[in-house]
Amino acid sequence: MKKLLIALFALGAVLSGSALAELNNPGGNGGLESLRGATELEDTRPADDFKKYPKEQPLESSFVYQPPLIPHSIRNYEVSLNANKCLSCHSWKKAKEEGATKISVTHYVNREDAVLADMSPRRYFCLQCHVPQAEATPLVGNDFERVQSLK
Ligand code: HEC
Ligand code: HEC
Repeated sequence: MKKLLIALFALGAVLSGSALAELNNPGGNGGLESLRGATELEDTRPADDFKKYPKEQPLESSFVYQPPLIPHSIRNYEVSLNANKCLSCHSWKKAKEEGATKISVTHYVNREDAVLADMSPRRYFCLQCHVPQAEATPLVGNDFERVQSLK
């Protein structure tokens, strides 16, 4: 009998605990809001619209040696073991006929500072450094200012 009472008591404690947790978590995410807004954990929020890529000039650099922003859409451009779509326009061979900027000489230098006959493998994955420019509101505010020499 005593054991049964203890078991019942324990069960009661567990149940009231979970009821409390539910009370403290209205809606399921505890009222937390992420940078993407408040969405319940169980829900899939609708995707944002695609960003607009301003087509004119590449936006100006903010610091010396900044990888220039990409002033065009890169949707479906494959960069993989088998293909590098970017190089089909930006390689020294193709750039002229495509009217694209050649990759610069720094892209031929390997990490021992030797200049190679072809693009250095460490520059192969262009999007590691270059990102498309887009009219996007920063998710987190910052007070970054361009270096004096570029103002
Ligand atoms: C179909 C040809 C083509 C392909 C493919 C292409 N680009 Fe471009 N890219 C251009 C042209 C042309 C420009 C010159 C600006 C313009 O007209 O949009 C340019 C401009 C750029 C610039 C700015 C260069 C500068 O002068 O500041 C960068 C960076 C760039 N592209 C990176 C990339 C990357 C990375 C990829 C692959 C994900 C890529 N591009 C794929 C044609 C191409
Ligand atoms: C490790 C970072 C890195 C990677 C990877 C990289 N780049 Fe760059 N890229 C830069 C930087 C930094 C600059 C600006 C300084 C310079 O010219 O080297 C630049 C400059 C450029 C320019 C402008 C050249 C000019 O003369 O103004 C083009 C075009 C370009 N990159 C295309 C590419 C393409 C295409 C790829 C992939 C095949 C690529 N980059 C991979 C860092 C990178």
